Amino acid sequence: MTTFKRLALASAATFVLGACATAQSTPDFPLERAKKTSAQMVGEERVQLTWGIMPLAIGDGTEIPEDAIPGAGYISGIPRLGVPALKETDASLGVSYVGGLRGDYSTALPSGMAQGATFNTDLIEIGGATIGREAHSKGFNVLLAGGMNLIRDPRGGRTFEYLGEDPLHSGLMAAASVRGIQSEHVISTLKHFALNDQETGRHFVDIKIDDDSARESDLLAFQIAIEKGQPGSIMCAYNKVNEDYACGNNYLLNSVLKEDWGYKGWVMSDWGAVHGLEDALNGLDQQSGSQLDKDLFFHDKLLQAAETDPAYDERLTDMNERVLWGIYSVGVDANPPVIRDIDFDKNAHTAQKVAEEGIVLLKNDNGTLPLTGDETRIAVIGGYADSGVLSGGGSSNAQTEGGPALALPLGGDGPFAMFMTESYHRSAPLKALKTKAPETTFSYRRGDYIANAVETAKNSDVAIIFATQWMTEGIDVASLALPRGQDELISAIAKANPNTIVVLETGGPVDMPWIDEVAGVVEAWYPGMRGAEAIANILYGDVNPSGRLPVTFPKSEDQLPRPMLDGFDMDIPSFAPHSDTIPLEVDYSIEGSDIGYRWFAKKRIEPLFPFGYGLSYTSFAQNDLSISGDATKLSASLSVTNTGDRAGMVTPQVYLVSVNGETKQRLVGFSKVDLAAGQSQQVNLVIDPRILAEWENDGWSLAAGDYSFAIGNNAADLKTPVTVFLHARQWTD
Ligand code: BGC
Repeated sequence: MTTFKRLALASAATFVLGACATAQSTPDFPLERAKKTSAQMVGEERVQLTWGIMPLAIGDGTEIPEDAIPGAGYISGIPRLGVPALKETDASLGVSYVGGLRGDYSTALPSGMAQGATFNTDLIEIGGATIGREAHSKGFNVLLAGGMNLIRDPRGGRTFEYLGEDPLHSGLMAAASVRGIQSEHVISTLKHFALNDQETGRHFVDIKIDDDSARESDLLAFQIAIEKGQPGSIMCAYNKVNEDYACGNNYLLNSVLKEDWGYKGWVMSDWGAVHGLEDALNGLDQQSGSQLDKDLFFHDKLLQAAETDPAYDERLTDMNERVLWGIYSVGVDANPPVIRDIDFDKNAHTAQKVAEEGIVLLKNDNGTLPLTGDETRIAVIGGYADSGVLSGGGSSNAQTEGGPALALPLGGDGPFAMFMTESYHRSAPLKALKTKAPETTFSYRRGDYIANAVETAKNSDVAIIFATQWMTEGIDVASLALPRGQDELISAIAKANPNTIVVLETGGPVDMPWIDEVAGVVEAWYPGMRGAEAIANILYGDVNPSGRLPVTFPKSEDQLPRPMLDGFDMDIPSFAPHSDTIPLEVDYSIEGSDIGYRWFAKKRIEPLFPFGYGLSYTSFAQNDLSISGDATKLSASLSVTNTGDRAGMVTPQVYLVSVNGETKQRLVGFSKVDLAAGQSQQVNLVIDPRILAEWENDGWSLAAGDYSFAIGNNAADLKTPVTVFLHARQWTD
């Protein structure tokens, strides 16, 4: 097994030369321009693009330039050379709210999980273009959008921001978002590179993983997203990986990202993730939000080092060329942001479409759903369904006109107290449901008092419970149990009414101890600014559910590789800053590259709901899987038919299931197909051989043998395997 450390030995200074050689090997006009501009930079200009501030008046004396816009970051430009200032905003779910400081509002897309659940790259590209255009119309030219860490632990506080647990799926979905954003001449930033999967001790947790496992999972996801999305920038993570901070990690930044993958854009730090000047030699190109670091390393100190040390001098040139490559390749200088009106109605429509395709129907006994509109009385209980739909907390939070419908402070009084607010978008399920069924009487109960909610449920034809689990950046959830006694409430309502439907607004997987007691379950995630309308359309069948789980729902935390989240018992304060004294390691060798459904397949354990799972109001048949090609180029084809009596979308999934008879499960391709009742379609999928291979001895290796593939309704429902023989093959790219 290749050890991670061995690869990290390549000296950073030697690498700088290697990087230039890789970059020059193909004609690249943005790079040629970048080299020309960088060659003209003199004196302080050379360290103008290498550091930035948070353009927020936080009382630390930082001078905020006049042209800066309140947001996440600002990097001064070089007007003499036509280099624009970089104006950065969060994030993947919409142009972020920053506590309302700008006094504006934006389109709030559904959470990353909801986006992942669409399995629809075309739709996610449209979503990306939507927020890209909004950012551009508000004066921003860099979006810190592209959160794509794999869900190794569903308790991670940022689970809701990310796309799922599978490298191919997350890589393709993230790439689509990047393409959409950058089509509007706004740079997109994939983050957080890499292995940034928990918030507990996020500034110092040390992830232990071997090179092979990392390359076949988390790194592969980034590799695919970079190849197919060509992002201008990458944000490195807070955590350590095998002892070195991710933003000063020679292996991750130099050896893998820049040398092996030939990445030409720049690496910006996460905010407060820079630990010293030497991070530059280890591959970091830009110090972001520098007020949050111990020192401003990438300004005078970098310039002085460059004047005396050739390694820093070469590095500084490379750093500038990389930032400029990002600017030129996305056309940021030629297409500067233009403050203009935003078509919020059109964008809200996109947000609703994403929500509708991302909502997953998990259970539907006896055709309880869709509702008919003929119900006399419906009880609507819990989840502040009279006010709005839940959104996740932290830097990604976007808000629509007027700010949140409801903002519940959850305590704390430090600088991060603002993050500790459970907020709800102005899209109220109760109102949306009433619009669908004017003849039905809807009775709302908050659910605080179980007894009166039960009485209302008893006297209704159907009871719909909205159950919530709030997640935020900075804090992991304590467990997968729904908080605030909601499990008890659901069980009590289910006993009172056989037609009980649970609508979940959760960041990710949750326990469902009541699953056998209720008639239906709908996972709506954090469904964004038109979430209620989307939920109502699904419940009444105006939209046929087509979302599929992008993450495995375990039966209980005992089924996870780590039944207890590492560090959770250490009572580390939320948002705790850097610490070299708190020892916190997380050992990823337990699951290696077998994250999520791969882990469940390997261990032969049955989850509550598997990856790829989701029901529809129609039925589909998927048949005739054939695999063609060889070890260099492989493809799958299958036929799908809508066998029911209403139109619907299906997500064909093809999995590798075994190699030479040994279980090895990998999603190798997926698509999303819209079919009228009775309609059939042939689906062709290209299989990336890296998904089948192992990473060993610094390259991909495909063993000779029998590879079996199957059509999956989901990762646990696989049928009629087809086996092909593949010759051995080794390669590096
Ligand atoms: C987060 C990033 C975010 C940055 C700027 C950090 O705390 O980890 O995802 O882009 O802040 O807001």
